[in-house]
Amino acid sequence: MNDHIKIAIDDGVLILTMNRPEKKNALTNDMYRVLAEAVEEAQDDKSIRAILLQGEGGVFTAGNDLGDFAAVSAGKAHGTRYGSVFIDTLGRAEKPMVAAVTGLAVGIGVTMLLHCDLVFVADDARLSTPFVNLGLVPEAASSLLLPQRIGYARAFAMFALGEPVLGERAAEIGLANQALPAAEVQAAALAAAKALAKRPLGSVMATKRLMRDTAAIKAMMEAEGKVFSERLKTAEAAEAFAAFAERRAPDFSKV
Ligand code: COA
Repeated sequence: MNDHIKIAIDDGVLILTMNRPEKKNALTNDMYRVLAEAVEEAQDDKSIRAILLQGEGGVFTAGNDLGDFAAVSAGKAHGTRYGSVFIDTLGRAEKPMVAAVTGLAVGIGVTMLLHCDLVFVADDARLSTPFVNLGLVPEAASSLLLPQRIGYARAFAMFALGEPVLGERAAEIGLANQALPAAEVQAAALAAAKALAKRPLGSVMATKRLMRDTAAIKAMMEAEGKVFSERLKTAEAAEAFAAFAERRAPDFSKV
């Protein structure tokens, strides 16, 4: 167990809640481990017919913990990197997944939505993928899936400029199913997940399989993972992580 991930089951829906609101639900290695294990175990658990991802404290997640990234960058992180395991699990997951996004979703907070089958956002939520600002590259097959979902021009701007897209706009461009007032998002997402859970599961899963090119997703995850690991060790990434920790703007001109 991990206090930073809450796990509940309601009417056949596995509810995974990121619960580290004092750090905007930034994901640590251990939080990824718990999420990955829960999603993996749900695949063979007949009582679970849908999965709901959400965040506590009015935010979805600020993405990967930047302190963890800095440790990897400095060669100080050892053992399994569960972020990669979680990403791999998302790519293979066959049970339907629903997301309830409030407040903000950054980095993997957005790229995990590309593996969810229904996405509900708060109309004022801010969704961003500032990988380039961090000296990194996209992950979770988002270099394939985000342009497919919203077009190359919008996807490149999200990756390279890192500017947030508001929830209302995210629904307009097909990144989310529906934008709602923040207070209604989690209830709407849970209702949708419960509705999915009542559908014939074999048919839902077969539909999901037909709609997702899992071989292409896996291949892109591998390609991204290789570059991402290299990028984490660059001086550009180290400067970005140091700037965040020191609450200053990064200066990439000298690296
Ligand atoms: N990793 C680690 N800690 C994080 C974090 C992250 N990704 N995002 C936020 N936090 C922490 C902050 O350091 C701060 O901690 P402190 O109170 O101990 O100083 C706390 O969460 C609140 O964040 P703060 O920056 O004060 O909130 P904000 O509302 O002003 O800004 C964000 C929110 C998300 C815009 C800003 O925190 C941010 O840019 N975070 C980094 C997001 C990111 O780059 N994620 C990785 C993507 S690959």
